[in-house]
Amino acid sequence: MSDVFASLTRSALLALPPEPAHRAAILGLRAISQWPGAPLPDDPKLATSAFGLSFTNPLGMAAGFDKNAEVPDALLKLGFGFTEIGTVTPLPQPGNAQPRMFRLPDDLGIINRLGFNNQGHAAALERLKTRPNSGIVGVNLGANKDASDRVADYVSGIRTFHAVASYFTVNVSSPNTPGLRDLQGAAALDELLARVLEARDSFGRGSISSNASGKVPVLLKIAPDLTLENLDDIVSIARKRCIDGMIVSNTTVSRPQGLRGPVDESGGLSGRPLFELSTKVLAEVFLRVERQFPLIGVGGIHDAATAYAKIRAGADLLQLYSAFVFKGLGLLKEIKSGLVSRLAHDGFTSLAEAVGTSARQISEGG
Ligand SMILES: Cc1cc2nc3c(=O)[nH]c(=O)nc-3n(C[C@H](O)[C@H](O)[C@H](O)COP(=O)(O)O)c2cc1C
Repeated sequence: MSDVFASLTRSALLALPPEPAHRAAILGLRAISQWPGAPLPDDPKLATSAFGLSFTNPLGMAAGFDKNAEVPDALLKLGFGFTEIGTVTPLPQPGNAQPRMFRLPDDLGIINRLGFNNQGHAAALERLKTRPNSGIVGVNLGANKDASDRVADYVSGIRTFHAVASYFTVNVSSPNTPGLRDLQGAAALDELLARVLEARDSFGRGSISSNASGKVPVLLKIAPDLTLENLDDIVSIARKRCIDGMIVSNTTVSRPQGLRGPVDESGGLSGRPLFELSTKVLAEVFLRVERQFPLIGVGGIHDAATAYAKIRAGADLLQLYSAFVFKGLGLLKEIKSGLVSRLAHDGFTSLAEAVGTSARQISEGG
């Protein structure tokens, strides 16, 4: 797609209110899915592997953009190294009342209180079953707002999607479903992971991209609004239960000083204002995990410098969402080429070598 066309499309979308703009973007991407052809090859220095899967580049689309699995292949075709659909819940649900998504254009931020609006497991499964058997597509699982047994909703997700998911994300960190984040508490998390992993282990090899162990990897996605003691507990349970990775982080309920957008809207804040907090939490998690499993860094990546900083803070892989809304497709190219030149400048021959090299400094406040 030409740069001029991409830039015109972005301006037109930003002129619409956030939800209609998002719908228009999904419809546009659905058209792209039909185009023949493959994505342009990535620089080999960007290739990496994590939880037994091989990625041609480390940049993924974060959960929440393609909630209903409508455009995973379009996103892969545009150059994302992987994408994550969802959050999906067993039953369809409408989410919170509109308006519930707000742009903070001067801050490159978004506040959302969507509340897991999605078409439910069956609709997403139908789409994933008919997509090509290639490319890395994770499935982000949540619980229905009025579920009587929330853990059972996650287990149901594993059962439903095990044959079509490259990996699973257990999302216990959305601020917009009351009580959901309580599942990050030590006892609740231990029980949740035990039941989810037991369900995962009861299935044989997934049909796409399952890792060498033959099991579909299960990752845990956490909030950035956690104390260091919370992180101690979460990482120790994650290690004990042998999960395959963690995603750090979801949106924040905090409001950093100096925001110029509508700070009084409730919901989760994402984008540039989330970068510092989520990167600090990432570094803290990295130090506690001691390389037992890989991490996906997400929160506020909006250029090559912030993408590289996440890697040095401890991320093996990256995800973004908000900056894509403001900067559009050109951002992917900018980040990928910027990563290659930064790795070369710092004398790293691979992405993996750079992972976590500034985690200690960030933790110590440097
Ligand atoms: C509009 C919107 C909807 C989101 N929905 C979900 C979701 O359904 N599940 C989830 O795990 N994260 C969701 N997120 C969080 C993102 O996946 C990501 O963790 C967060 O936005 C930080 O990344 P960013 O700063 O690059 O946007 C959503 C974010 C936004 C902006």
